[in-house]
Order: sequence, then structure tokens, then C-alpha cells
Amino acid sequence: MKILIIGTGYVGATTAMVFAETGWQVTGLDIDAGKIERLKQGRLHFHEPGLEALIAKHVQSGRLQFTTDKEIAIKEHDVIFLCVGTPSLPDGSADLRYIRQAAEDIGRSMKGYKLVVTKSTVPVGTQEKIKKWIESAQQAAYPFEVASNPEFLREGKAVKDALNPDRIVIGTDSQRATEQLKKLYWPFVCPWIVTTPRTAELIKYASNSFLATKISYMNELARLCDELEVDVTEIAEGMGLDPRIGSSFLQAGLGYGGSCFPKDVSELVMTSRKHHVHLGILEGVMEVNRTQYAYLLDKARSRLTSFADKTVTILGLAFKPDTDDIREAPALRIIDQLLLEQANVRLYDPIAALPPHGSYRAVKVCTSAEEALRGAEAIILCTEWPEFERLDWKKAKKLLGQPNFFDGRNMMNAKRMRRIGYYYQGIGKA
Ligand code: UGA
Repeated sequence: MKILIIGTGYVGATTAMVFAETGWQVTGLDIDAGKIERLKQGRLHFHEPGLEALIAKHVQSGRLQFTTDKEIAIKEHDVIFLCVGTPSLPDGSADLRYIRQAAEDIGRSMKGYKLVVTKSTVPVGTQEKIKKWIESAQQAAYPFEVASNPEFLREGKAVKDALNPDRIVIGTDSQRATEQLKKLYWPFVCPWIVTTPRTAELIKYASNSFLATKISYMNELARLCDELEVDVTEIAEGMGLDPRIGSSFLQAGLGYGGSCFPKDVSELVMTSRKHHVHLGILEGVMEVNRTQYAYLLDKARSRLTSFADKTVTILGLAFKPDTDDIREAPALRIIDQLLLEQANVRLYDPIAALPPHGSYRAVKVCTSAEEALRGAEAIILCTEWPEFERLDWKKAKKLLGQPNFFDGRNMMNAKRMRRIGYYYQGIGKA
């Protein structure tokens, strides 16, 4: 079986690597010629630890190829994975235009049997639409099958997650598709869930929304912890030891960002509304997340009285460490608000860059944390990059205008920061 991956973003590039690593012949297809040129040279267009080296290894071995020629690529491959983006539309539902485009391309170019597998996160019922889109574009009634195989990898840990999946979910009505996918994933030893297409699609949304719920629950609880003078990280530790709760995703902070949780929770809520079901818990999850960045900003504002003409240093821009992805990053919302309130904003992130919008020209982008800290009257830590924890904060104090530290990720040791002279506020760390 020769595998074609349509879309070479995080999911597509990682999936291509996984199948090349397990011995298959893989081709990555993308409409973006620039991305494909880089990939052909074994270079990635985004930051993902360990992925570039594995891509380069398989480009060199010849097991991994890249192309922009969709017609030939579709004709020459039997198994096609859809890994294109499904961004949010303004109303919060998922935009399926890239999925539709890929499905129609497949229909138009196929000249024999294809297995089409969706890895992109798509709303419940999309598999049925994909079938129709392929059929409507076909020149002749060539046979094909469709399956859902949602991806559960995290950015920043994509290689580890993809090579060590905790489960493989397959949603299809076809026995043949199931057998083919089992063959493709031959080396993986983990639980398999073979189910209906709709179930597979919903498992993905339900998983991401549940993780987002854990985060918003802790963020809301953290607000109460501040009032009660209780440390939310100790609460999380005490809760997490109960195996029914588990210790992961209990870290209070500025809220969840990235290309997945915000759009997936929102899409699930939109789906529920279309079916006249009220998912009140998820509506609450979104509301906590929407206001969480402002919760920390309020603390900083009341300490400084006003942000106008104050120098505020933002440490970290990426939505989480080990990625240069800034989609839905809480740091962006904080910067927007600070600029609106006429603060002098200084920013340092080890790898992430601001979008090229004119409004961000007012931000002083620095090349080191030390440079960013010069003259700061408030520091707002937005991403828990390890280098921030390692910084000599005693020495750094000399660079500052005022030692006010607002820790949006509860990263620092609060007691130590206070002992060495910082006015330190975290989230639920009163
Ligand atoms: C998420 C899921 O974790 C993956 O399983 C899924 O495959 C992926 O979405 C996807 O749908 O493609 P990702 O968006 O890469 O992965 O990031 P996470 O590590 O889940 O973090 C999401 C956000 O939650 C980040 O902003 C992070 O800072 C925040 N977070 C996470 C918290 O605020 N507290 C926590 O305890 C954990």
C-alpha cells in the first residue's frame, strides 16, 4: 500500500513521518509550494521537537516524498489520509472547505479503488459528506471507502504521541477499510476502538472538550482559591492522586489556547445547538476561558493603578512551550489589551514571533529575557518556557523598574519569588 497524506501541517507531517518510520512508502501533498520545497529538503516549516530529523531521515532513505501535483499523487496512491485544516468559521462551527476541496480532488482524479481516511478533526456527520463530495466529482463510479481515524497528538510532543498512541480509533462501516487500517498500523500495541463513523468523530471532540473542561474547572476554582488564600496547585496535587480524576490537565493558568481546544469546544457547542441540546457545561468552559486572561490582567492593573505609559514585559508568546504556534495564544489577547490601554509592551519568546499586523509595531520585541526585563514595571509570564524558571531572578531584579511579577502559568516558586523581593501573583496562588 502506498500512502498519500493531503495537508502537511502538524498532523499531516507527523502522520507522514509515522508511516515512513513503520516502513511504508509515503507521499505528502500540499498546495503550498514553499512548504513542499522545504520538506523535500527535509526541513520543516514549523517548530516541533524531533520531527524535522525524522522527516529528513526518510526523505534521504527515499521512503518519504513530497509533491504539489495532486492529480498524479491521487492516481498513484491507494490509501489517502486527509490532514487538512478545519479552522473555525465566525459563528464557531468548523470550516470544511479544505476537506471538501480534497474530497472533490480525490473524486476527480481517481482512476481505481481508494481508501480515504480522515485524520483532521471534523464535525459529526462529515464522513457522510465526504462520500457525497467524492461521488459528485467522480468521472466514473470507481469504488472507494471512507474511514475516520482521529489524531490525538499534542503539539510540542507530536513525535512521542504519534509513535506511542494510547489508542487508535477507527470509524467506518467497511470491514475492508478496517482490515487495511489494521495492516497500516501493524507495529502499534495499544487499544483499538473500531466503531461507527459518527462515534469516531465525536470521540475526538468529546476528548478535547473534556480536557478543556478540566482546565476551565481548575481556572475557575483558582479564582476561589485566591479569595480563600489557598494554593490551587496544592489542590490539584491532592485531587490528581485520585486515579478517577488523574493529575494531568489540572494546571490553572491563563486558559487554553492553540489550534484545537478553542475551536473544538466551540464546534461541539455549535453541533449541540443545531440539535437543540444544551451543553451548559461546555458553554461555561468557554466563558471561563474567554475571561481568564483578563483575570490576571486585572491583578496587574490594580497593582500599577493603570497601564498607561507603564512598561510591561511579556515573557512567552506561544500558546504553550515547545511550539512556535501562536494561534489563540492568551499572550496575544494580553498584548492587545495592554496596547489598548497605552502600555509600553516589551516581549520575549525563545521561538514564537508576533503576527505581521501593523498594531504590533508598537511592541518592542527582544532577543533575550534579560533585554525584555529592562525597565519593566510589571512582568507577565504567559508561556512556561523552562528558561524562565532557570533565570537568575535575584540578579534580574536589578534590571527592573519595579519587581512586580504576574505568573500566568503558576510556573515560579511563589514563596521564593516573594522572599527575594518580588510582588508575586499567580492564578490561585494568593
Ligand atoms: C490538544 C490535545 O491535548 C491533543 O490530544 C489533540 O490531539 C490536539 O489538541 C488536537 O486536537 O489536535 P494541543 O492543542 O497541542 O493538543 O495542546 P495541549 O497540550 O492539549 O494544550 C492545550 C492548551 O491547554 C494550552 O494552551 C495549554 O497551555 C493549556 N493547558 C494544558 C492548561 O492551561 N492547563 C493544563 O493543565 C494543560
